[in-house]
Amino acid sequence: MAAFCNHACGGAWKKRGMELPFLKKKEVMALDIGSSSIKLLQLRQAKKGWELAKLGIAYLPPEAIVDGSIIDSMTVTNTIAALVKEENVKTKDAVSSLTGHSVIIKKVSLPAMTEEELGESIQWEAEQYIPFPMTDVNIDFQIMGEVAAGKGQMDVMLVAVKKDVINDYVNVIREAGLNPVVVDVDSFALENMLEINYTFAPGENVVMVNIGASITSISILVGGVTAFTRSIPLGGNQFTEEIQRNFNITFKEAEDIKLGHVKGRFEQSELNKALGSVSSNVAAEVKRSVDFFLGGNPAVIVNKIFLSGGGVKVAGLKETVQEKMDMIVEVANPFNGITCNPKVFDPEKMKDLAPHFGVAVGLATRKLGDR
Ligand SMILES: Nc1ncnc2c1ncn2[C@@H]1O[C@H](COP(=O)(O)OP(=O)(O)OP(=O)(O)O)[C@@H](O)[C@H]1O
Ligand SMILES: [Mg+2]
Repeated sequence: MAAFCNHACGGAWKKRGMELPFLKKKEVMALDIGSSSIKLLQLRQAKKGWELAKLGIAYLPPEAIVDGSIIDSMTVTNTIAALVKEENVKTKDAVSSLTGHSVIIKKVSLPAMTEEELGESIQWEAEQYIPFPMTDVNIDFQIMGEVAAGKGQMDVMLVAVKKDVINDYVNVIREAGLNPVVVDVDSFALENMLEINYTFAPGENVVMVNIGASITSISILVGGVTAFTRSIPLGGNQFTEEIQRNFNITFKEAEDIKLGHVKGRFEQSELNKALGSVSSNVAAEVKRSVDFFLGGNPAVIVNKIFLSGGGVKVAGLKETVQEKMDMIVEVANPFNGITCNPKVFDPEKMKDLAPHFGVAVGLATRKLGDR
């Protein structure tokens, strides 16, 4: 299941030799640079499975990262540097990821060939599927499943990421004094997160929905492997904006009300109505994606939906998705299979933070030789 991650944007760096000087080092830190906060996480391999070593979160002002683009790189850099210092992280090697409109992921059918052959011809093969000039993107790929001998075509997952966006993220990490060893994609990190925390029955297929502050990514995992992924510019910010619009207040005031920091200013039933309308939009987008996927893959049965991201903390969201999809919906716990020492990591706090750390946990499972 983890295979794709080896090849995602990180693979592009590898081909260019960018990570070679760091290959001897064992530990990596995961840095999930989200638009509302930066999440830092380190795992260590325990005798049985994984153990949580470091965890920290630092909030960003809303204008620092907008629509997945870094606007205020100085603030992002300083926030990363302060977080790394506060958490006393020893390694400098950072694994991060991207999502949103700068990342294009497409499953395509290409003439059967070896991985090596495809590596040589990928630029040319990918051109017709990627809506950006080839010179502007880093391309990576994964051949899906076995290629039957004598069969003419094979399924390939193409990943294209805009170079200028990768560069912006790499630069803030570098400016913070770290080594950006791999840049991955959120949805593949989430796939890895599920893999280490949950076991799936053969033939069990799931939808993974991560609702961040500005972006919701939806992936469908078939046999544990990402078969479809899509990201939409809809997330926690839209809930806040709906409250802002309905009650004619500032974004900051609306966010404080949404987070429950300010209580009793407006009727709860009115607030629930505003939140409910955005939850319905999220549920409709999930349904649209799943219906689209199943339209092209009628033999596949999707059994379950996992939710993650800070957006899942909106009261009633899970139930709205459940109603719309008529499917089991579960909030994924990225620490489900990870040993967390309660003396170091307060269980109550961990419960509150868990939805935010899905991507970071997936990124942190990277280890030496896995890059
Ligand atoms: N208790 C809560 N109730 C409702 N929403 C919440 C709560 N706590 C956090 N959120 C929302 O969760 C969102 C942040 O989630 P997350 O950390 O997953 O986003 P991000 O990674 O920073 O954003 P993105 O991935 O979109 O760039 C914010 O919109 C925040 O308002
Ligand atoms: Mg995020």
